[in-house]
Amino acid sequence: MTEAIDARPLVGGPDLPQVRRLVTSIPGPRSVELFARRNAAVARGVSTTLPVFVTAAGGGVVVDVDGNSLIDLGSGIAVVSVGNAAPRVVAAVADQAAAFTHTCFMVTPYEGYVAVCEKLNSLTPGDFLKKSALFNSGAEAVENAVKIARAFTGRSAVVVFDHAYHGRTNLTMALTAKNMPYKHSFGPFAPEIYRMPMAYPFRWPTGAANCGPEAASLVIAEMTSQLGVDNIAAVLIEPIQGEGGFIVPGAGFLPALSEFCKANGIVFVADEIQTGFARTGAMFASSHEGVVPDLVTTAKGIAGGLPLSAVTGRADIMDAAHVGGLGGTYGGNPVACAAALGAIRTIEELDLVGRARHIESLMLPRLQEMAGKFACIGDVRGRGAMLAVEIVVPGGLEPDAATTVAVAKACHAAGVVVLTAGTYGNVLRFLPPLVIPDELLLEALDVLEEAFATVT
Ligand SMILES: Cc1ncc(COP(=O)(O)O)c(C=O)c1O
Repeated sequence: MTEAIDARPLVGGPDLPQVRRLVTSIPGPRSVELFARRNAAVARGVSTTLPVFVTAAGGGVVVDVDGNSLIDLGSGIAVVSVGNAAPRVVAAVADQAAAFTHTCFMVTPYEGYVAVCEKLNSLTPGDFLKKSALFNSGAEAVENAVKIARAFTGRSAVVVFDHAYHGRTNLTMALTAKNMPYKHSFGPFAPEIYRMPMAYPFRWPTGAANCGPEAASLVIAEMTSQLGVDNIAAVLIEPIQGEGGFIVPGAGFLPALSEFCKANGIVFVADEIQTGFARTGAMFASSHEGVVPDLVTTAKGIAGGLPLSAVTGRADIMDAAHVGGLGGTYGGNPVACAAALGAIRTIEELDLVGRARHIESLMLPRLQEMAGKFACIGDVRGRGAMLAVEIVVPGGLEPDAATTVAVAKACHAAGVVVLTAGTYGNVLRFLPPLVIPDELLLEALDVLEEAFATVT
């Protein structure tokens, strides 16, 4: 064991050995020791999916303090799409940190912030004039998109959907659907938020084929009769719902909503915080159905792990907020901007959009095959490298969270990081770094299949 610990790498990135290697049980003794310290020092409300403490990560692996090397199918929740410690990100961060770490863009500006905005303006869907503003977290970007939409329209109502997740700040808790753990005991919440049914094909009462058009009619009728379109500032939606369970809306739902918004002066906001930056096999998931949002929120995959988020969209909408109305001390921090430019360049140079599609072509058939073998897999869905299986009591729709957790734990014990999701806690989701080697991905799928065979 000593040998394994001594051999553990101090430097991460793509040169780390791309292997699954377990030298202790998971978690190992050093992680267990650190977890005890963590429990004594860190507030209970901050949870842990897999209590191994990391020393290095890169490509498709995460290496822990005990010398174990785990296959990463989580990317730190869809963040390190370009891989952990990606060379261009590391170099850009080091250079920028050596030059200056902060001035506050609102005090004395710097080029990196402007360059990131220019990139966002050109990469997001739509060939109209666009502008951007930068923030720190996804939740902060969503809050600012709501502020901007309200300033532009002079209206206050915001429409969101069942199963939505938009963050944990006060306004974004109100926008988020699920009570436990995100909202429970934390109210009161912000007003003027209206929740509508989601086009959830697997659970649509009249069947998946009818889901998109029927859900759109329902939502449009409710917006018209219950809210009054003249009161609605924004419709806010994830083009594929993330924490809600990787729900790909029924075909036609997003285009119908976007058209309705256009016709009625409502700002259509796509929350691409989890789906953006190549994750779904397109630079932005709205493009799969040709939807051009008025505003797009981004974070996560934008900066290879550094905290950065943005609102990007139609210049006339973005400019509706008065001078000084948007911003924050750290928003668009120069080191995070340098990281974003490195990450975006990596996405383009390595064609990570194409890689995400390739990952789908490797994973989706295997997951479908597993659904044929294991009756608890009720649905296989997603796009690109954002894929999931929904676990139910065989033969119906009843969610089976216990089996979901058991399969996830079996994967963890075997050295594969997988995450769960879903309103009912019954979705296993897969978000590999887009640079993961094929062999490692296939090995992770073998482990997953073995976990299903053992647990069910
Ligand atoms: C779609 C979506 N919106 C917003 C957020 C909130 O982002 P953050 O955790 O950076 O505040 C998330 C995070 O998971 C998300 O997936």
